[in-house]
Amino acid sequence: MLDSDFYRGRRLRMNPGIRALVRENEIRPADLVMPYFVVETDDASFKKPIGSMPGQFQLSLQELEKTVGAAVKNGLNSLMLFGIPKVKDELATQAYADEGIVQEAVRRLKDRFPELVIITDVCLCEYTSHGHCGIVHKGGEIQNDPTIDLLAKASLSHVRAGADMVAPSDMMDGRILAIREMLDDNGFMNTPIMSYAVKYASAFYGPFREAADSTPKFGDRKTHQMDPANSREALREAEADLAEGADILMVKPGMPYLDVIRQLRDNFDTPIAAYNVSGEYSMVKAAAQNGWVDEQRMVMEMMTSFKRAGSDIVITYFAEDVLGWLNK
Ligand code: PBG
Repeated sequence: MLDSDFYRGRRLRMNPGIRALVRENEIRPADLVMPYFVVETDDASFKKPIGSMPGQFQLSLQELEKTVGAAVKNGLNSLMLFGIPKVKDELATQAYADEGIVQEAVRRLKDRFPELVIITDVCLCEYTSHGHCGIVHKGGEIQNDPTIDLLAKASLSHVRAGADMVAPSDMMDGRILAIREMLDDNGFMNTPIMSYAVKYASAFYGPFREAADSTPKFGDRKTHQMDPANSREALREAEADLAEGADILMVKPGMPYLDVIRQLRDNFDTPIAAYNVSGEYSMVKAAAQNGWVDEQRMVMEMMTSFKRAGSDIVITYFAEDVLGWLNK
């Protein structure tokens, strides 16, 4: 048989230089968004390891500033903030308080790192006494329309504090429109919204709920987050959010939903973000701590897979590590 009778794919894999030359996808430092958990506390040196997420911490404002400072030195371009307030109540008052913990954190970070892109997660679940993402009436049902008014108020308070972008993660219907109108009415027509447009009711958020202290005290999130079995529905959710004014579409979780990222990429031309969530992080960490996998190689392979599937942005707890590896 002649050489030319079959495809010799190995020709383009023979050395690192050739492999680099034909590489199709690569993660860049500017693609990465690092999530942080900031706690309202009088203890300036508060830095509490999150048991379910080795290497991640709940941080006081002061510790947040230190940690972010180091990451920015390392090339961090963007972060996402989650707040844990001192007081929780039925109306999630601290979610939209001008002096709330996220609002304070935004002001502080913006002042120190004016170039850093600060994205805030917008949801009520860290701020309600029952841990649900919205206002709950008797009978336990989450009330959609009263909730989106509060989400719009929370978004405005974040943007007033200096946030560059808001990212609503609640999955209530109509919230993108409510937020867009609220921002526009207050002169923030140039502030983008990254919508958690396609967010599944996932077991992969387990470790996050310890990190953000947001486990619902009763019931679950299945009346608003999507059924993991559905992908056509993802297109409807994405379309609705785009029509309401979303600028960036997010798919969450990431790894188990790469097919959904690809479907969105093939159907829309807006930027797409993948959220590599807490459970995806923790399972890699656990396996690595046991010596079962090569953490760096595995993480870089995951990052590349998000890009290959079609996402532009990757939100990941590995962001600081990946920056360190890319800088080497
Ligand atoms: C809700 C929110 C959640 C996550 C991001 N925003 C939790 C949930 O919906 O239960 C999950 C992130 C992760 O698991 O890393 N505010």
